[in-house]
Amino acid sequence: MRHLLVTGAAGFIGANFVRYWLERRPDDDVLGLDALTYAGNRASLPPDGHPGFRFVHADILDEAAIERLMQAHAIDTIVHFAAESHVDRSIHGPDAFVRTNIVGTHALLKVARRVWLDGGDPGPRRFHHVSTDEVFGSLGPADPRFTEATPFAPNSPYAASKAAADHLVRSYHQTFGLPVTTTNCSNNYGPYQFPEKLIPLMLVNALEGRPLPVYGDGGNVRDWLFVTDHCRAIELALDHGRAGETYAVGGHNEWTNIAIVRLLCRLLDESFGANPALRRRFARCPAARGDSCERLIAFVADRLGHDRRYAIDAAKAERALGFVPQETFESGIGKTITWYLEHESWWRSVMDGSYRAWVEQHYGRESA
Ligand code: NAD
Ligand code: TYD
Repeated sequence: MRHLLVTGAAGFIGANFVRYWLERRPDDDVLGLDALTYAGNRASLPPDGHPGFRFVHADILDEAAIERLMQAHAIDTIVHFAAESHVDRSIHGPDAFVRTNIVGTHALLKVARRVWLDGGDPGPRRFHHVSTDEVFGSLGPADPRFTEATPFAPNSPYAASKAAADHLVRSYHQTFGLPVTTTNCSNNYGPYQFPEKLIPLMLVNALEGRPLPVYGDGGNVRDWLFVTDHCRAIELALDHGRAGETYAVGGHNEWTNIAIVRLLCRLLDESFGANPALRRRFARCPAARGDSCERLIAFVADRLGHDRRYAIDAAKAERALGFVPQETFESGIGKTITWYLEHESWWRSVMDGSYRAWVEQHYGRESA
């Protein structure tokens, strides 16, 4: 039986991970921790009183609070998701990324070292750090995919802050013997993703009849993985990963952005065609009038320093952990669209307030 501390539990992947874990490991205790920034939503998690789950509102930089929680809940496993995660925000305001992703990760490492190692051999423990493929930089069209051996070359402040955190995690293993593992995963999609990231943003904008802003020529490539497959990879790293190792995780699923946006438009057009209730609920969507959502596509100025291509070679994760994605892109996108259509109140509530103000400031009133 494990006692897990999940940081960033109220974010996109953290919330999916908590739900995944509680369903598969009902004997374990999960303490979900989150500072509830604009990206964290308590409503994405199971309610208070759910068997095996507790939520605590705290900041990973609050070392005293983390130490108390680790002692009180006999934490033996940390799964560290908490981060500032949006590249565009890191371009407009990098400070928060340095604070949370670097200083915050270091705060957690210090506490884990104190609690687990200072009193002698603590028994089996694991600090799992959830990182990104963006630390490796950008690939050309014919370059081989990223592996664990690819040198770091982060290009955005987000990627640089995650790379710094990855190095700190490694150093706490090499220097102090902290039992750590790291996964560097490709782009995730699925339920509970904040509509500032490509796939949910395009879905909710199309439903609202707002422009679909495609950066540059739309030819940038990402390797997409359904979020539950990422959760499974982390579970496998906890169960079978070796302390000190890193694992590159991806979906063998490269798409240009424009191809994804066109696919989403086509699938929404088809859903509206087959379902008159959708036409009534989302009257501003072009598909409600029998038009295609594609007419909302708007090519806009490119992101600064926009990485051209990410792609992961997950051979080590497959060999060492037995990781194989179970969702196809077709099935995963289908589940994702259905989820956003069925959870309108979730995405409306998370897009209120500070997020809307931020979008207006950076993209103009029409997009907000
Ligand atoms: P997210 O932005 O949806 O969630 C991040 C969560 O961290 C939010 O709930 C936020 O409130 C919380 N948080 C932020 N600062 C905090 C602090 N100081 N203390 C406590 N909590 C804090 O991000 P996500 O997409 O769920 O990503 C989770 C992790 O996975 C990140 O570390 C990210 O780098 C990594 N990752 C994401 C992807 C992806 O495609 N989304 C891919 C690979 C890796
Ligand atoms: P994003 O979801 O922000 O993830 P990341 O930058 O971490 O890969 O963006 C995915 C791709 O989609 C990226 O190439 C930028 C592009 N993009 C757009 O073209 N328009 C948008 O409005 C957004 C948010 C992203």
